[in-house]
Amino acid sequence: MKQRTVFLTGLRANNNLHIGNYLGGIMPIVNMANSDNDSQINLFVPDLHSIISDYDTSKLQTAIFDNIKNSIAAGLPLSKDNVYIYRQSYIPAHSELTWILDCFSGFGELSRMIEFKEKSEKAGKSNVGVGLFNYPVLMASDILLYDTNYVPVGDDQRQHLEFARSIANKFNSKFGEIFVIPKSTKEHDSNFERDQALRIKDLQDPSKKMSKSTESEKGVIFLNDKPDIARAKIMSATTDSIGTINYDQDKQPGISNLFDIMQYFSNKSHDEIVSKYKGSTKYAEFKSDVADVVCQFLIQFQKNMANIDNQEIIDKLEFSEAEMNKQANKKLLSVQKAIGLR
Ligand code: TYM
Repeated sequence: MKQRTVFLTGLRANNNLHIGNYLGGIMPIVNMANSDNDSQINLFVPDLHSIISDYDTSKLQTAIFDNIKNSIAAGLPLSKDNVYIYRQSYIPAHSELTWILDCFSGFGELSRMIEFKEKSEKAGKSNVGVGLFNYPVLMASDILLYDTNYVPVGDDQRQHLEFARSIANKFNSKFGEIFVIPKSTKEHDSNFERDQALRIKDLQDPSKKMSKSTESEKGVIFLNDKPDIARAKIMSATTDSIGTINYDQDKQPGISNLFDIMQYFSNKSHDEIVSKYKGSTKYAEFKSDVADVVCQFLIQFQKNMANIDNQEIIDKLEFSEAEMNKQANKKLLSVQKAIGLR
């Protein structure tokens, strides 16, 4: 029997999700789930990743359900049998495989992970938990347990994806063909019809990615922002003093970011959008058009959020978690056998 192609992604459930998460992580897999009946679509909540940094225990359950609702509001079709949504901590094989892969992961390689370096430098090495250091191994387990082929993620997660490929290759060459190797980042991009993975920038500082953990919320459009708040953020976005609109990521990163946002929310081609505004000197008019497109999206998205039935989510989670435990345990057993534990 031909193996199904597997698409898998997850979004951490700590803070409110923003439009970068939506465009980089949610939208590609939701589009795939709607258009593809043959592949297996796994969208999961990495709740064990949520406890890596400080968090409020009393709010975690709500955050997990809100996280799932975001994908449903984005159009994830719950009724399709090839679509699975599940919570990582409900599938113990994730943690088990993480320990095993830890034993084959290099300290040096993990020390070079950009996210670890940035966050540990900011907090001070002695103030970060081992979980932050170890996190790419858990992410590799999330991917490798299900024979995943494609992992749609934003640009910031590409290094972790490459780590998953590297540990899988290392493991296979030592113990035989146990893991499916997820596609290279280049193949991912072309499968999702992009030249490179998406990186939506902070509206106030377009040299940085839009991020949940940014100190100022002025540069971040959250999916639950009221449309007039989102509009104000876009209207005050940092641009440049060049005076003419152009798509140039080096010289005009702010404008280019707004072009990207407009393109992905309006479903038009890059060329179509750019040719409409290129050469114009009317920055405010351009920003206002971007705001229109984003607000239109937010209004519909938030309406969808308000109409989601919790019981439908619980039913889907229970169905998916039963099935995913079977798949994950099967893979875990083959790993345990290969390394001599069984
Ligand atoms: P997380 O929760 O930080 O981000 C979720 C998704 O959003 C993407 N993203 C962006 N895309 C474009 N522009 C941005 N500014 C932007 N900011 C975030 C991220 O790339 C990601 O796709 N480690 C993961 C969660 C995870 C995971 C996995 C993902 C755990 N296990 C296995 C895929 C497969 C994370 O923290 O993503």
